Amino acid sequence: MGPADLEDVIDSIRAEARDCTGARADAVLVWSGDDAGVYMIGDTAIVETVDFITPLVNDPFTFGEISAANSLSDIYAMGGRPVAALAIAAFPGCTYKTEVLKAILQGALKTIKRAGVVLIGGHSLEDSELKFGLSVTGTIDKDRILRAGGANEGDILILTKPIGIGVLTTALKRSTFGDEHIAEAVKWMTTLNAEASELALKAGASACTDVTGFGLLGHAYNMLRNSQIDYVISADDVPVLDNVVDLADEGMCPGGAYKNLKYLSDKVGFSGAVNMQQRLILADPQTSGGLLVAVKEENIEVFRASGAFYAVIGKAVKGSGKIAVEKKINILK
Ligand code: CO
Ligand code: CO
Repeated sequence: MGPADLEDVIDSIRAEARDCTGARADAVLVWSGDDAGVYMIGDTAIVETVDFITPLVNDPFTFGEISAANSLSDIYAMGGRPVAALAIAAFPGCTYKTEVLKAILQGALKTIKRAGVVLIGGHSLEDSELKFGLSVTGTIDKDRILRAGGANEGDILILTKPIGIGVLTTALKRSTFGDEHIAEAVKWMTTLNAEASELALKAGASACTDVTGFGLLGHAYNMLRNSQIDYVISADDVPVLDNVVDLADEGMCPGGAYKNLKYLSDKVGFSGAVNMQQRLILADPQTSGGLLVAVKEENIEVFRASGAFYAVIGKAVKGSGKIAVEKKINILK
């Protein structure tokens, strides 16, 4: 779903919005605040989300591919299966030729087809800044919804993609280097969270979310809100994309990383051994980031056996909804 600000506004009118659904209010299984909403139509649970972003690479086709994977991600983060999508585009018709929009859409279609989803329409409007994304509808097993909250004491935290996307795309925007230098990041951003979602379901995950604009720590915190659980994160075990540490040392962290860290200042405690660059990277906003999954230790085997990329980055302990970031801890028993 979108930025916290909008979710906060939606939350403030929660009572009114619920009233609007009238007799159907009980059909809402998951409301705003999680990765996507879940709604019952008869016996079928549908999962819905919308997300759109501004370009973060120069090539329009690649931007379309990334944006689509990013929009689909919230469905996977809930354990759903995406079915149909609508495209949303804000387009400065005076700045760009129509071919640019066509290339973005073709890129998006490549991702959409890989996901087994059908594009059934869309809407565009004239705007001063280009934006593109999807509204996605999926189906979901109502008894196996992967909520963001719900991690249990003793659970292990698994991350399914490396982080550092925000640092790399900031370097790209500041023209330090070209698209070819972020090929690895593009590969990850266009990777669907479909397999990770299946593995999370198979592993009986107690909680799951996708890592996007609030960074690893922001989304980890969102999993803990109002809970009696804390996360302990082992900073050195968090996978980081190539060149990100060097770029962060050169001051190439996006404003969003600083903003996220500031927001988390009373929610995350850092060991003195975790330096400022490492803290910023842990709060670096991701686009189409991986899933952050809480699973029982014995069920990590599901991820291990799959051959898919994953990293064990921390654990859940008894607490009060906070995060402790240590330089390095022994996570597994
Ligand atoms: Co979202
Ligand atoms: Co999400």
